[in-house]
Amino acid sequence: MLTNKELFLKHLGQTSSSPLMLEILRAEGVFMYGPSGEKYLDLISGVSVSNTGHRHPKVVQAVKEQIDNYMHLMVYGELIQSPQVKYAEYLAEFLPASLSSVYFVNSGSEAVEGALKLAKRFTGRSKIISFENSYHGSTHGALSIQGSEVYRNAFRPLLPDTFRIRFNDADSLNVIDSKTACVIIEPVQGEGGIISPEKGFLELIRKKCTATNSLLIFDEIQTGFGRTGHMFAIDKYKVVPDILLLAKALGGGMPLGAFISSAEIMSSLMSKPTLGHITTFGGHPVCCAAGLASMKVIIEEKLIESCQGKSKLFRDLLKHDIIKEIRGEGLLLAVRLTSPEFVRNAVSRAPEFGLILDYFLFCDDAFRIAPPLTIKEEEISLACRLICKLLDDVQINGMTK
Ligand SMILES: Cc1ncc(COP(=O)(O)O)c(C=O)c1O
Repeated sequence: MLTNKELFLKHLGQTSSSPLMLEILRAEGVFMYGPSGEKYLDLISGVSVSNTGHRHPKVVQAVKEQIDNYMHLMVYGELIQSPQVKYAEYLAEFLPASLSSVYFVNSGSEAVEGALKLAKRFTGRSKIISFENSYHGSTHGALSIQGSEVYRNAFRPLLPDTFRIRFNDADSLNVIDSKTACVIIEPVQGEGGIISPEKGFLELIRKKCTATNSLLIFDEIQTGFGRTGHMFAIDKYKVVPDILLLAKALGGGMPLGAFISSAEIMSSLMSKPTLGHITTFGGHPVCCAAGLASMKVIIEEKLIESCQGKSKLFRDLLKHDIIKEIRGEGLLLAVRLTSPEFVRNAVSRAPEFGLILDYFLFCDDAFRIAPPLTIKEEEISLACRLICKLLDDVQINGMTK
């Protein structure tokens, strides 16, 4: 009989030549457990998904209760399903009044696809502007606007009429004009290595979009649900987009995405043709139940209020010769090391030290720290001790072990 590791390599489509390949039997809170008693402190949250930790009891309970009622019933948009409408209502309470119409989908990439289609339909235009080093997903539309020529070029032809401009470069905004359907931006860039917008940059984009009747799309798929120390980054930057994209933590550990807009803009998908976006599993009731329970946990456990203090604790405790800088917002941190080789070694060897760390797609001199927001102070102390031990070892031994 083949081991699970052998089955993984033989039967699962592989994404790289060096997957982490740790077998996980169970996960609870901020820890994951392997089959031989291995224990890993999760500092990544499945890439900003498990904001309320693994298997939060309230999320598990909501999932079980929903499964006892029903699972999939019908394609999105036909039947009234309590988990969907209750979650949409709850989300709207936390968003500006103009963002009141929630279209649930399966993933972040599908939310991006839906939003691009919506912008094209609403404006009758095709030009799409995005940013260098942005990541919006891996489907064809999302890939077309991705801020990396390496990835785009491997899959041409892609969507026409797409343009990339530089993040935090006010001069490049002149490309937004009366032919522009939309500008899509991560208000805080994730895969670029956690880059915050400079003062006034998002306001300037908002002004340009309003002046040209182009739609502004904020991709908060990675920054949403308390990750930056605010429920959404728009709460900090006070700029209201025309379309907001959510996924990852939206489902509380289950697959769920959403594009959110005004009822007026959203209505463009209803006619000419009708069914402008079709999704079978979008807004799956079990995922919506999990997501709603998880979002309520963020409020009840005051995870937003505690986020900045926890962020500071990481910054205070993480001191090492090879750490050049720690940047980021809330519990979305990029730890820059003095060389990309140290980063490669640190991430790949982290499990030996009981840690799960991760890279950024477009920033090779930093590793990511994005733990569940439920992480306790003593767990942060433990994490920082383990990271410093790991960095000691990487500094001396590199990949030689
Ligand atoms: C900012 C951002 N947008 C979109 C996506 C795509 O989401 P998904 O992987 O659910 O398709 C991601 C995923 O990492 C992301 O970080």
